Amino acid sequence: MPDEAVMRQALDAAIRGVRGANPLVGAILVSAAGEVLSTGHHRGAGTFHAERDALESFAREHPAGADLGSATLYSTLEPCRHQGRQPACTRLIIDAGVGRVVHGASDPSSNGGGADVLRRAGVDVVSGVLAQQCEALNHRWVAAAVQARPFVTAHLAQTLDGRIAAPDGTSQWITSKASRDHTHMVRSRTDAILVGTNTVAVDDPRLTARTPTGELTLRQPLRVVMGMTPVRPAQKLTQGLPEGDGWLHLRTRDPLAALQELAQTTHGGYPIKHVLVEGGQSVLSAFFAADLVDEVFAYHAPLLLGAGRSSVGDIGVRTLSEAPRFALDPADSGPVQIMDPDVCVHLQPKGDTCSPES
Ligand SMILES: NC(=O)c1ccc[n+]([C@@H]2O[C@H](COP(=O)([O-])OP(=O)(O)OC[C@H]3O[C@@H](n4cnc5c(N)ncnc54)[C@H](OP(=O)(O)O)[C@@H]3O)[C@@H](O)[C@H]2O)c1
Repeated sequence: MPDEAVMRQALDAAIRGVRGANPLVGAILVSAAGEVLSTGHHRGAGTFHAERDALESFAREHPAGADLGSATLYSTLEPCRHQGRQPACTRLIIDAGVGRVVHGASDPSSNGGGADVLRRAGVDVVSGVLAQQCEALNHRWVAAAVQARPFVTAHLAQTLDGRIAAPDGTSQWITSKASRDHTHMVRSRTDAILVGTNTVAVDDPRLTARTPTGELTLRQPLRVVMGMTPVRPAQKLTQGLPEGDGWLHLRTRDPLAALQELAQTTHGGYPIKHVLVEGGQSVLSAFFAADLVDEVFAYHAPLLLGAGRSSVGDIGVRTLSEAPRFALDPADSGPVQIMDPDVCVHLQPKGDTCSPES
C-alpha cells in the first residue's frame, strides 16, 4: 500500500479524537506485506498517544510478542520524544523494535525532534507524507502553541434567535438537560472554565463539572473569572476558599493577556492547556473579536426570545466579508448532534482545510 493511502487511514483515525490540550493524532501499524496490524488514535490529554494506542492494540492481539522489524508505523504527527503524563513515543517505538516510521506533520511544539531521535536509533524514518492535510487537522492547536496560550473552546447556549438571556436577565434554562450534560462532559476534560464578572454576578454559577446525576466528576477544572469587578467571597464558584485554591480572578479585559496568564498557571499539578470560555456575551465577543476561539460547541434550543442579550455582541464586523467563518468539525462526536430537543453544532474556525476529506 502506498504511504499516502495508509496516511489517509491514519487521518481518519485521528478525527475520532477530541480537541483540546493535545493535537488530534492517528496511527496505523502495517506489516511488510501491507496488512494493517492495528490502528490507534489519541483520545485527549492524559490518555495514550496514538502511536502507543496502536502498539498496545497490536500487543493485546499478540501476547507472545512479534518481530516488528519489517513493520511500518504511520503517524499523522511526528512521534514525541518527551516524557510527560505519557511515556515518549520514540522510546515505545524503539523498544517495540519497529523498523520503519512514516509521519505527516512535524511537531512544532517543544516535543518536536522525535524523528531525529528515531533515526539515531537506527529506525528508517520518512517525514512529511500528506504533511499539508496532517497540519490542517490541527491548525488551531498549532496557532495556540505559537501564541504560547491554551487551546480555547467556546460554549454558546442560545435560543433559535441567538439569545442567551431574556430581557429580564433570566437564562436558566434555555437549553435542554441533554445539552447541559454535554457541557458538563466538555467541562470535565478541560483545565479551566472561564466566565466574565457579570455572569458571576447574575447567575452565580458553581463552574464545576458534574455527571448527569449531579455528582462531581473526578477531574475538576480551575474556575476562572475575568474582568475588573471584585469577586465576592460568597459567590458559589469560590466554594468559600481563598483565591488560588481552585479558582482564580484574572483582573484584565484583554483575552490574550488572560490566556497567557493561564498558560503560566498550574492546576492539579499540570499547566493550563485547555480553556472553556462559557460567556457571557461581553467575554465571548472579546475572544471571538481577537480570533482566540479554536473550537465551538453551539447549542441551539428551539425557542424564541426576540429580545434580550445575544450570545455574541459587536465583534467589529462592518461588512459581510469581514465576518469570521467556521467549518463543521468532524472530530469528537461529529459536527452535529441532537440533544433533544436542542441541536449542538461543533465547529472550528475555517482554516485551509480542517478534515481529511476537505
Ligand atoms: N446561555 C448561557 O449559556 C450563558 C452563559 C454565560 C452567561 N450567560 C448570560 O449572559 C449574561 C451576562 O453576559 P454579559 O455580557 O453581561 O457578562 P459577562 O461577559 O459574563 O461579563 C461582562 C463583564 O466582564 C468584564 N470583562 C472582562 N473582559 C471583558 C472584555 N474584553 N470586554 C468587555 N467586558 C469584559 C466586564 O466587567 P468588569 O467591569 O468587571 O471588567 C464586563 O462588564 C447573563 O444574563 C448570563 O445569564 C448565559
